[in-house]
Amino acid sequence: MDKAQIGVYGLGTMGSALALNMAEHGVDVAVSNREADWIAPFLDEAGPLAARIQGHSDLAGFVGALRAPRVILFMIPSGAPMDAMIEMVTPMLSPGDTIIDGGNADFHATRRRAAALAAQDLHFVGMGVSGGEAGARHGPSMMVGGSDHSWAQLRDILRTIAADYQGDPCVAHLGPDGAGHFVKTVHNGIEYADMQVIAEVYGLLRHGAARSPEDIGALFTRWNTGPLRSYLVEITGRALGFNDPATGHPMVDVIKDSAGQKGTGRWTVIEAVRLGQSASMIDAAVGARSWSSEKTTRLEAQRILGGARLALDLGEDTLAQAFLAARILSYAQGFRILDAASQEYDWKLNHARIAEIWRAGCIIRSALLDDISEAFSAELPEGQLILAPAMAARLAQSVPALRQVVAAAVSGGHAVPAMSAAIGWYDTMRQGQGTANIIQAQRDVFGHHGFERLGEEGKHHGPWWD
Ligand code: 6PG
Repeated sequence: MDKAQIGVYGLGTMGSALALNMAEHGVDVAVSNREADWIAPFLDEAGPLAARIQGHSDLAGFVGALRAPRVILFMIPSGAPMDAMIEMVTPMLSPGDTIIDGGNADFHATRRRAAALAAQDLHFVGMGVSGGEAGARHGPSMMVGGSDHSWAQLRDILRTIAADYQGDPCVAHLGPDGAGHFVKTVHNGIEYADMQVIAEVYGLLRHGAARSPEDIGALFTRWNTGPLRSYLVEITGRALGFNDPATGHPMVDVIKDSAGQKGTGRWTVIEAVRLGQSASMIDAAVGARSWSSEKTTRLEAQRILGGARLALDLGEDTLAQAFLAARILSYAQGFRILDAASQEYDWKLNHARIAEIWRAGCIIRSALLDDISEAFSAELPEGQLILAPAMAARLAQSVPALRQVVAAAVSGGHAVPAMSAAIGWYDTMRQGQGTANIIQAQRDVFGHHGFERLGEEGKHHGPWWD
């Protein structure tokens, strides 16, 4: 058999789907896996595609089966397993070879690994892959970091397997070292916020208007034909339409209201704070998941504090507009963090291109991203999406509904942490005169920290101690 163009190590859900996607697009692939007994069943399931796939049970054979300079995609758990793998594989590599980590990894670790490998003339690529199993198999969105050398090696293979948006493959080289993994982390942060806003809208309809899951599902499905069109709205609409085969009840009614999280949402919030930013909607979404897992406490609190929620009479159009405003604001927060990181790490991220490669294949794909990519094609101060004329106009139209929904929800005792965070941030950002002058006065009174006077450079103190 000829040498393979790329190696895929790790035949879990995502690794096997990517290997099959490559084979289907005419790429010769070598595969391997820590548990060697996964390889034969994988090749069996590959059917005719197995003609383009070579399985290797030992690492040296796998590496030896690759064309030089080699490209190896690792789809293994992030963290310590990746470091162990790098230690094992690097002695088998030659200068110019590229290792790719296709998992959701902490971009700080990616930067560290890229620097360590560069010292040996090896290349390390952190690549965010979005779209779940179906995306990996039939067209993911891929956010690629690393060197130009690696991108030249990878480009053609990735373009052929990527999701396609009107002829444009949803993959791009976004910057060096950790840029790809960072953009994927923020993608996931936005994913968290969007999912939370959807859950809040569902809650207002279910608990505030006593509508059935099926009925709410039908509404989401209708919304999916308009400006709210997105993968997450589509799957929510579908999921709400299913009944539990065991009980006959709506499926969502038998699912425990405690959400899991693997950590990328949390990383987004941590990095935002480190960068002197705040992703308040993403923070609200991460918090809501954490609080959701405190089911016992919530049940006890309902008994002690009372869990009453008032009936709400919010029109469907008002809810749709509120949802749209919240979605724009969550993307805006996400892009603001990307901009801050780009400046901090000198990545020169191209916001328009990021929005473009999110238009298909990934979990947050939505109709809005086309408009966002256009908005970023013009220069925007500090990456502030809310200042783009097209977005400002949409916000002017939709924010009154967000205000109305949040006010009604809060008055009625319904929890809407992400939508509340959205309006709080929007109102903060649209006011040239805020309230931080009082914070500065307090800091000066208790700690002599000093403040700037309006229109005057330099540090000043107040007359408090005279
Ligand atoms: C994607 C997703 C994916 C993520 C899962 C689970 O873009 O395909 O973001 O990478 O791992 O959605 O994430 P949580 O367990 O954190 O919800």
